[in-house]
Amino acid sequence: MSTKKYVLTEQEMPRKWYNIMADLPNGMEPPLHPGTGQPAGPDDLAPIFPMNLIEQEMSTDRWIDIPEEVMDKYAIWRPSPLFRAYSLEKALDTPAKIYYKNEGVSPAGSHKPNTAIAQAYYNKVAGTKKITTETGAGQWGSALAMCCSFFGIECKVFMVKISYNQKPYRRLMMETWGANCTASPSTETRAGRSILEKDPDSPGSLGMAISEAVEEAVADDNTKYALGSVLNHVMIHQSVIGLEAIKQMKMAGDYPDVIIGSAGGGSNFAGLAFPFALDKINGKDIEIIAVEPTSCPTMTRGPFAYDFGDTVQMTPLLPMHTLGHNFVPAPIHAGGLRYHGMAPIVSQMILDGLIRPESVHQMETFEAGMTFARTEGYISAPECNHAIAMTIREALKAKEEGKEKTILFNWSGHGLVDLAAYEAYFRGNLSDHELPQDQIDAALKDIEPLPKPRQAT
Ligand SMILES: Cc1ncc(COP(=O)(O)O)c(C=O)c1O
Repeated sequence: MSTKKYVLTEQEMPRKWYNIMADLPNGMEPPLHPGTGQPAGPDDLAPIFPMNLIEQEMSTDRWIDIPEEVMDKYAIWRPSPLFRAYSLEKALDTPAKIYYKNEGVSPAGSHKPNTAIAQAYYNKVAGTKKITTETGAGQWGSALAMCCSFFGIECKVFMVKISYNQKPYRRLMMETWGANCTASPSTETRAGRSILEKDPDSPGSLGMAISEAVEEAVADDNTKYALGSVLNHVMIHQSVIGLEAIKQMKMAGDYPDVIIGSAGGGSNFAGLAFPFALDKINGKDIEIIAVEPTSCPTMTRGPFAYDFGDTVQMTPLLPMHTLGHNFVPAPIHAGGLRYHGMAPIVSQMILDGLIRPESVHQMETFEAGMTFARTEGYISAPECNHAIAMTIREALKAKEEGKEKTILFNWSGHGLVDLAAYEAYFRGNLSDHELPQDQIDAALKDIEPLPKPRQAT
């Protein structure tokens, strides 16, 4: 019998996170203070985040120790298994070898607890009593709810309204873990009320939910805000995925030619890809592909510019690929990929030619998810179906070219709480969403007055 999954012991878990900031060939442009336009320092971030996380956000140390308390909690679901997708390979009749890292084994069902546990821990150490956050599909909100409950911190989640209505069970998971979950835009904050005044039927967006969560955090000294993606410290925490995968690929006697992840804010993709990207920086030939929805084409059609992380312009300006902070994506079911921006590190690595961005339409992603479920068994989150769709494209390309490639992708989460999306697909109620250029141009008008990064595109 061939080996199907590669499993590490708890003793083999990485003891340090990897920080790719230490190895970027062209460095990074700094975040800017939204008022002064000057580089934002630690004090500018202090009303939102605890200082220990701000230090990580700005760190260029290559390796960062994982605290023992975080290791203890990681052990609930880590190390996560690496699978060889033999049945998918067979169904595609491809010479490619396909591996996937299964991050759906965490209690919340995705990779999100890898950073939620670290952020809850550092907040606890800093004395934070309450954490506010946003969530799209609910994966991040439920992950943070669970991790706050571990450390006795109150948790308040603003959930994008369209997802709040599509995914009631995610809200119930958050409540089970003791969090309070509110549909965003809400009437509870100034930001929410101003958005509702202009558009009472707003479906919400991650940018709006972030504005609400940040507003509530800055209003109280004992409350901090946590972000589930985009920021440097989140990319650092997620590196456990790739660090484990390096060991597991060694066990399999293989090395990936192609690495694939879906990208909403960039964190599961970065988590798997960055530890391997170090080899690429050092000259190894690896194709690293970040996949986004065609209806929210931040990396493939958005410029590299300074923009706010939220709709109401409360966050620092980040150098990133963006569709503009007022962009409201079509209500696709991959709620976690409906974000106007992209992680600054991922954006910089696209400029550096280290990452290839791609986009796929919604229908192709669900077809891919179906193929995966009927071969490998697992039912994937709609976000994750984007990575599967790209993996299938690459495996079929290998077949056409007659090449025996090794493909590794991140199976970022299960879709058991997203079955309403599958139902919509089965009943013929899903479609692709074309995004006309004038809609993008209109949203980008709002960032025209902002400062421009050196490498603006
Ligand atoms: C299962 C899953 N995959 C991917 C994503 C995209 O986020 P990120 O790009 O930060 O990994 C999300 C976000 O909610 C998610 O829930």
